Amino acid sequence: MQTILFQAHSGWRYIVLALLIIAIIKYVIGWLTKGKWSNLDQILGTATPISIDIQVLLGLVLWISAPAAWFHGRGTVNVWEHMVTMLLALGAAHAFWSRVKKSNTDADKFRNGAIGFIVAGVLVAIGVARITGYMG
Ligand code: HEM
Repeated sequence: MQTILFQAHSGWRYIVLALLIIAIIKYVIGWLTKGKWSNLDQILGTATPISIDIQVLLGLVLWISAPAAWFHGRGTVNVWEHMVTMLLALGAAHAFWSRVKKSNTDADKFRNGAIGFIVAGVLVAIGVARITGYMG
């Protein structure tokens, strides 16, 4: 059971990262070129926080269900740090997406969406790099 959860959690990161990167590029371009907010922008902005929700849920279930000794030699502190980093990313993605929904102009939508997903993206990248050992 833990193996399936771990593989799902490990693999889903690519969906999260891909959506974040696509959304950031699209929103930054829309922001800089004063573009028109499209259906695709709306779908991207809805899907990206949901993909993080799913990843966080998988991570929490994995953490709660797996014995500490199972964590590939990574200490409790690493997993705690990982969880806090990712919960902050989740909070940023949702907070800024709700700002996008309240924004009146397309420019504000692109700006708020870009800022939120850049903050979330940096946090997710740090969280992944730390837990996989690429960063300290
Ligand atoms: C956007 C959110 C998240 C992303 C992108 C993410 C990504 C990752 C990645 C890439 C790994 C390493 C997988 C591997 O070595 O193949 C991992 C491991 C893990 N994550 Fe997450 N994670 C997220 C959120 C969370 C949360 C909220 C928790 C809750 C505690 C969590 C718990 C864990 C656990 C327990 C492991 C296994 C550690 C180990 O086996 O050493 N993750 N995560």
